Amino acid sequence: MTDVVERLNFMHDLAAIVADIAEEMQAAPDRGKPADYIPPLARVDVAQFGMAVVTVDGRVFTAGSADELFSLQSISKVFALTLALGKVGSQLWDRVGREPSGSAFNSIVQLESERGIPRNPFINAGAIVVADVNLTRGAPRESLAELISFVRHLADDDTIAVDVEVAKSESETGFRNVALANYMKSFGNLHHTPEDVLALYFGQCAVAMNCRQLAMAGRYLMAAGLNPTSGHRIVPETRARRINALMLTCGHYDASGDFAFRVGLPGKSGVGGGILAVAPGRASIAVWSPGLNAQGNSQLGTLALERLATRTGWSVFDRADAPPA
Ligand code: DON
Repeated sequence: MTDVVERLNFMHDLAAIVADIAEEMQAAPDRGKPADYIPPLARVDVAQFGMAVVTVDGRVFTAGSADELFSLQSISKVFALTLALGKVGSQLWDRVGREPSGSAFNSIVQLESERGIPRNPFINAGAIVVADVNLTRGAPRESLAELISFVRHLADDDTIAVDVEVAKSESETGFRNVALANYMKSFGNLHHTPEDVLALYFGQCAVAMNCRQLAMAGRYLMAAGLNPTSGHRIVPETRARRINALMLTCGHYDASGDFAFRVGLPGKSGVGGGILAVAPGRASIAVWSPGLNAQGNSQLGTLALERLATRTGWSVFDRADAPPA
């Protein structure tokens, strides 16, 4: 009985915590700047903030612009990695490393000394190799359709789609990604043409989702690889644990250490201003605010997650007996 009362109290608290955080973020003066190298992203209003928390027992708490669509950008690298591991399993690690890079998301510097093997699957070079692995359906659009159908299944929402304007702009401005792909091709670490691999990569970055859909899509990572509502297995438990480990160590590029220090949750950011964070065994969380900090991660999204982790005790470095969600 005490357990039930404690749980109900915590649920009530969680609703209040999410509402309080959104209120604080709406009023925050320092909101960062939207990504300016992809024109449609540069136009998004920095006044917006959204948040969604989906708990392991299926409750959904939202606040602010939680139903506003935004560009997934690098958060798509989590879902692409999950698909690629499903296709080739641990053979992926012959072509991509598992170490933090300590460099910007689009850096090319380590690739020469490391002979075309990217440090991890979340920097652009790593995600381009992952896209090469996922290009199993012939034309890039068929492989992109497979990825979209996977995220629709995860989020239980068939409306999720690519923003074609962002995809087009991405490919018109993606000169660094073209350089990364060609450079890795020269080392033999791409099996398809750079053009086809990048068509898939640009398409996956341009998937649009809102916070509610993203938090739903991340549920398998908080629930040991299962859809916690249906009990359906998405990935083996070990794989979910390892993806979380990569998100914690590499999910925020050269700010991954700072994110672990401040928030203490596996998280993956995108230059659209979204962040997917996972409180294992407790909740899947999505935040979005388009203004970015100097490392290209959402300024207010990071702050909101810091507040949430502090008030819930959900950091993976916290006491294990913090209240369950
Ligand atoms: O490759 C790019 O430039 C983008 N489409 C994705 C980059 C991104 O989201 C980096 N994350 N913070």
